[in-house]
Amino acid sequence: MRKISLTGIKPTGAPHIGNYFGMYKPAIALTDTYLGMYFVADLHALTTTPTPQELQTLIYEVAASWIALGLDVDKAIFFRQSAIPEIPQCTWLLSCVTPKGLMNRAHAYKAQVEKNIELGRDPDDGVNMGLYNYPVLMAADILLYDSDVVPVGQDQKQHIEITRDIAENFNRIYGQTLKLPEGIIPEDVQAVPGIDGRKMSKSYNNTLPIFAPEKALRKQVMRIVTDSKTPEEPKDPDSDNLYQIYRLFAPTERLQEVRNLYLQGGLAYGALKQELAELMLATFAEPRRKYTELIDDHAYLDAIMAAGAEKARAIAQPVLARMRKAVGLDR
Ligand code: ADP
Ligand code: TRP
Repeated sequence: MRKISLTGIKPTGAPHIGNYFGMYKPAIALTDTYLGMYFVADLHALTTTPTPQELQTLIYEVAASWIALGLDVDKAIFFRQSAIPEIPQCTWLLSCVTPKGLMNRAHAYKAQVEKNIELGRDPDDGVNMGLYNYPVLMAADILLYDSDVVPVGQDQKQHIEITRDIAENFNRIYGQTLKLPEGIIPEDVQAVPGIDGRKMSKSYNNTLPIFAPEKALRKQVMRIVTDSKTPEEPKDPDSDNLYQIYRLFAPTERLQEVRNLYLQGGLAYGALKQELAELMLATFAEPRRKYTELIDDHAYLDAIMAAGAEKARAIAQPVLARMRKAVGLDR
C-alpha cells in the first residue's frame, strides 16, 4: 500500500500566509508521492470555545481553503475530524498510556501556566481539559491511520515528538501495535512573522489572510509594523519584519535589488508594502477565485468531506481493532 501523509488544521481563524508556507504548500505537494490525508481539525478548535456560529463559518472557510489552494479531492482523502467516531475511542486508549508529566511539558499548556504565574493567578486559570489533552487527541489523529509522515510547520514539532512518545509507550506496554510517524517540517521556512513581528498566528490577530477581500488585504499589508527610519537611511533587512514577509513572494532578482536598497539606503517602507500587496494578490489570484466559488457551496463541501470520511474510516477501523485487541477489550 502507498505510504500515508497526513495533516490537519484547526478552524480557529482565517487561513494565513504562515499556514500556507509552513503547511498547506509543502503538505499538498506530497499528494503525488503519498496517499494524502487532509482534515479540518474541528474537535481541536473546541478547546478555544468558539460560538457555534463562529465554528460553522470557520469550518467551511478552512474546508474551502484546502481545495482552493490546490488539494486534489480525487486523489487525496479530505475530511472532518469530527466525522470519525473512532477518534475519541483511540484518544482514550492513548490517554491511558500517556504520562501526565508529558502533558505538563506541552508548549501550549506550559505557556498558559507561565503566563498565569506571571500575573499572580492560579497556574491552571483558564485551562480546560481539552487544552490539556490537546496533544493526545492529535496523537490519535496521526496514529489511527498508521500515518507514515506528518507535514507541519515548526511550531508543531513538539506535538509530533509527543505522538511518537505515546506510540512507543503503547507498544512497550501492549506489544508492537502502532506505527511511529515522522514529521516533515520545512527547515527553510522558519515561522513566518506576523504584521506585529511575533509569529503569525490566528490566535494573535496579526495575520495576512490569504482569502480576505482585496481592500481588507491591502489595508492589512499597510499595517505591517516597521521602524521609523526614513527612506534614505540604511536598514537591516534580516531584522525587518516587512522584508521577512516580502522575501517569501519576491522573484529572486527583485529581492536582491530590494536587499541592496535596504543596505545602502533608498528603500521606502510604504512603497514596498504596496509592492507586497500586488505580489500577494498575483500569487493567490487563482486560489482566491476558486475560494469565492466554493465558500458558499456548503452542499458540495459537505459531500466531499463525507466521502472522504468514509475512506478515512476504512483505514482507521482495522487500526483501532488492532488497538482494542492489544489492550484486551476484544479477543
Ligand atoms: P495558527 O497558529 O495560526 O492557529 P495552526 O496552529 O492552525 O495555526 O497551524 C496550522 C499549520 O500551519 C501548522 O502546521 C503550523 O505549524 C503551520 N503554521 C502556523 N503558523 C505558522 C507560521 N507563522 N509560520 C509557518 N507555519 C505556520
Ligand atoms: N495541532 C495542529 C495545529 O495546531 C492541528 C492538528 C490537529 C494536526 N491534528 C493534527 C496536524 C494531526 C497534523 C496532524 O496546527
